[in-house]
Amino acid sequence: MADVAKATLGLTKPAQIDSPKIAFAAKDVDLLEWKGDMLVICVTENDMTKVDNSKFQNSILNKLDSQHNGLLFQVSSEEDFTGKSGQSIVLRLSGHGPKRVSLYGLGKCSTSSSTSTYRSLGESIATSAKTYQANNVAITLASFENLTPELKLKAASAIATGIILGTYEDNRFKSESKKPALKSVDFLTFGVGPELEKKLKYVEHVCTGVILGKELVNAPANVLTPGALAQEAEKIASTYSDVLTAKILDTEQCKELKMGSYLGVAAASANPPKFIHLCYKPPSGPIKKKLALVGKGLTFDSGGYNIKTGPGCLVELMKYDMGGSAAVLGAAKALGQIKPPGVEVHFIVAACENMISGTGMRPGDIVTASNGKTIEVNNTDAEGRLTLADALVYACNLGVDKIVDLATLTGACIVALGPSIAGVFTPSDELAKEVVAASEAAGEKLWKMPMEESYWEKMKSGVADMANSGGRQAGSILAALFLKQFVDEKVEWLHIDMAGPVWNDKKKAATGFAVPTLVEWVVSNSSY
Ligand code: BES
Ligand code: MN
Ligand code: ZN
Repeated sequence: MADVAKATLGLTKPAQIDSPKIAFAAKDVDLLEWKGDMLVICVTENDMTKVDNSKFQNSILNKLDSQHNGLLFQVSSEEDFTGKSGQSIVLRLSGHGPKRVSLYGLGKCSTSSSTSTYRSLGESIATSAKTYQANNVAITLASFENLTPELKLKAASAIATGIILGTYEDNRFKSESKKPALKSVDFLTFGVGPELEKKLKYVEHVCTGVILGKELVNAPANVLTPGALAQEAEKIASTYSDVLTAKILDTEQCKELKMGSYLGVAAASANPPKFIHLCYKPPSGPIKKKLALVGKGLTFDSGGYNIKTGPGCLVELMKYDMGGSAAVLGAAKALGQIKPPGVEVHFIVAACENMISGTGMRPGDIVTASNGKTIEVNNTDAEGRLTLADALVYACNLGVDKIVDLATLTGACIVALGPSIAGVFTPSDELAKEVVAASEAAGEKLWKMPMEESYWEKMKSGVADMANSGGRQAGSILAALFLKQFVDEKVEWLHIDMAGPVWNDKKKAATGFAVPTLVEWVVSNSSY
C-alpha cells in the first residue's frame, strides 16, 4: 500500500517494503536425512514420555536421539521440556545434519489440537527462525501416524499461516529495518500431493490479505485518509482486474443517493469522504449466491463534539477505527487471487473521518438516511453506525442474498468479550452457524450475542424515528439493533463487532482480524 498513501501532514512517507516470499514445499524426505538450518519436531506430551529412564515413547525421537548421542534426551530432561502446548527448546548440533533441532510442544494430543494451537506454533517457529537467523526450516510431526490426511492438511496450513504472519514485520514507518532471514519451509511427514500444495497456495493468498489488513490499520490517519483508502481499493481491483471492479463515489454522488447519515459524520472533515464499492465476479460459470461484506471505515474517530477525552478513551488509537474496512479489503485481495466460482461478492466501505469543526454535526442534530429514516444524533461519538446505516441500505439495494458487516463499533464489546473475541449479532441462526463455522476453520474467535428487541425502547427519540445512542447498558446490543433498522427483512444479515480483536496491545500493532474468517465464509458459499 505504501506507494499510493501520501501524507498531507507531517511529511511522513511510508517506506516500500516488499515482504520477501517464503517458499513452502511438501516433501517425502526422511527427517534423519534432511539438511538445513533448523529441523522442527512437533511433539505431544505422550511422545515425550520417558521409558526406562533412557528412551522416549516415540520412535522417531529415539532415532534422532541416538543419531546425536543422546543429546535430545539429556537436554529435554535438563530443561524440563515435556511437550506441553507452548513449550519449546532449541539445540545446536554439530555434524552433517541440520544446524539446529527444535522441539515444539503440542500438549496432550496432536489430533485434538486446534487451528489456533497450530497457528501459534507457526508463529513461534517464525520467532526462532529470526533469533537464529535460519534461512531454511523443516517441520515434522513426531507422531504423524495418528493424524488423518485431512487433519495433516489443517495442521500444515495453520502452521504455514503462523509462519508467514510471524515472519512479517510492518517496518514502513521506521527509518531502518532488517530483512527476515527465513526463505524456505519444508513440510515433512504431512503427506505430499496436489491437495496440500493447493492448500498452501490458499494460505499464502489469505495471508497477503491479512497483511494488507494489518498495513491499512497500522497506517496513521495522517497517511491513510479516506482518499488514500479509496486508492488502495482501486489498486486491489486493478491488480486482479480479471475478477474485480471498483467504483468510488464522492460527496456529490453520495448526496444524490441521499446518504445523509453518512455525510453527516463526514461533514466536519477537511479530508473528503469516499464511498468504496468493489465487486468480485468469478472468471466463468453461473453465479449461485450474491454476498456483501460491509466494513466500518472511520480513518479517524475523534468523537466529534462528544469528543473522546480522559484516560482510557483510546483516542490516540482511533486510527484503527477502519478495522472493519481493512478486513473487507483484505478479503477482497485474497479472493482476487483465490477466484472462487459460483459466487458474486460486493465489498462496501463508507469511508470518512469523525472530526470537529464549525461545519460538523452538533449533538442533537437530526440526519436522514438513504432509506428515508430520520436519526437524532444524541451522541456524535456513536458515528460508526451512522456510516454503516447508509452502507447497509446501499448493499441491500444491490439485491444480495446475505450481508456480513464488520465494525470496531463499541467499547462495550471490549468490556463484554475482551481483546481477542469479536461479538456476533444476527437475527438469523443459519447465518450465525455459517460464519461461526468459518471462524473456527480460520482459527479466529467469535461469540454470538443476543439481539434483545425489548432494549430497542432505549433508542427511541422524541422528535426523530430513532436516536443513535441509548445509554450505558448493553451498548453493543443497542448498536446492533440500530443497524438492523437499515437492513431489508428479506436479506440475511450478520454484524461483527471487532473493537477488541482489531488491535494487539502487547505488540502495539494491528492483527488483520477477520480476513481469514471472511475468506473462508465466502469460499463456503461458493462452488470452490
Ligand atoms: N470507535 C468507537 C468504538 C471503540 C471504542 C472501538 C474503543 C475501539 C475502542 C465508536 O465509534 C464509539 O465511540 N462508540 C461509543 C458509542 C457510544 C457513544 C454509544 C462507545 O463505545 O463508547
Ligand atoms: Mn465513536
Ligand atoms: Zn468509531
